[in-house]
Amino acid sequence: MIEGMDAAAEIRILEDPDELAETAAGMIVDLATSAVAQRGRFTVALAGGETPRATYERLARPPLSEVMPWARTFVFFGDERGVPPDHPDSNYGMAHRALLAKVPIPPRQVFRMPGEGTDPETVATDYARALGEELKVRRGEVPRLDLVLLGLGIDGHTASLFPGSPVLKEVFRTVAAVHAAAAIIPQRFTLTFPILNAAACVVFLVSGGVKAKVVKAALAEGAATLPAGMVRPSDGRLIWLLDRAAAALLPAAGSRPAERK
Ligand code: 6PG
Repeated sequence: MIEGMDAAAEIRILEDPDELAETAAGMIVDLATSAVAQRGRFTVALAGGETPRATYERLARPPLSEVMPWARTFVFFGDERGVPPDHPDSNYGMAHRALLAKVPIPPRQVFRMPGEGTDPETVATDYARALGEELKVRRGEVPRLDLVLLGLGIDGHTASLFPGSPVLKEVFRTVAAVHAAAAIIPQRFTLTFPILNAAACVVFLVSGGVKAKVVKAALAEGAATLPAGMVRPSDGRLIWLLDRAAAALLPAAGSRPAERK
């Protein structure tokens, strides 16, 4: 526990992006193995952006690809841009190239968010329905994913939950269509806090010195101002995997937090 930091978060600092990817991929296999042993399957929402690519690539090759229970794994997405799957900015496209095309996961167990859909509200509603049906939740219940992977934007966004967005106040819907004016692709689809905070385990993957300031802000105790700081599973684990550069501004474990200037 790092003093002054969110006590709910388990923070692990890895040496560099390679060790971060290796650790994250190993953690995914451990969580999947345990979920299959306990419940017969593993449900995971993948993160988009660039950081997770190296983790997906490690998961796609031996030894981890040979021990991952692909036949019992069900893949969803934390968010998607409003583009087709073959677009260079598609989160599905990145995950497909880095992982899904290389492993024997049954195609019907991969649930893509159809970002290219012409009616964003229908895309969101249909995806929420698919999530609910696949996770077999009763009406009104929130699906509990075994694992949600998330990244962190330099403005504190995660998935496509951006600062100041009305979707931050969503308490019922599990999937929303959002318009993120500042984002590279403004039309977005995202899981919302109700489903993120119902997960059994949420793991942030954050790499690079450019993220150091926002990591400190997001992890500051009680930092429920940034979207990433609002991810707090009500009955689950919250893990931050950081490389040393991204963790550079965190108070050293056990010391007093840096005074706010
Ligand atoms: C997206 C992601 C987004 C991402 C962060 C960090 O669709 O853009 O879901 O939340 O995780 O922007 O992106 P990088 O890993 O590329 O820094």
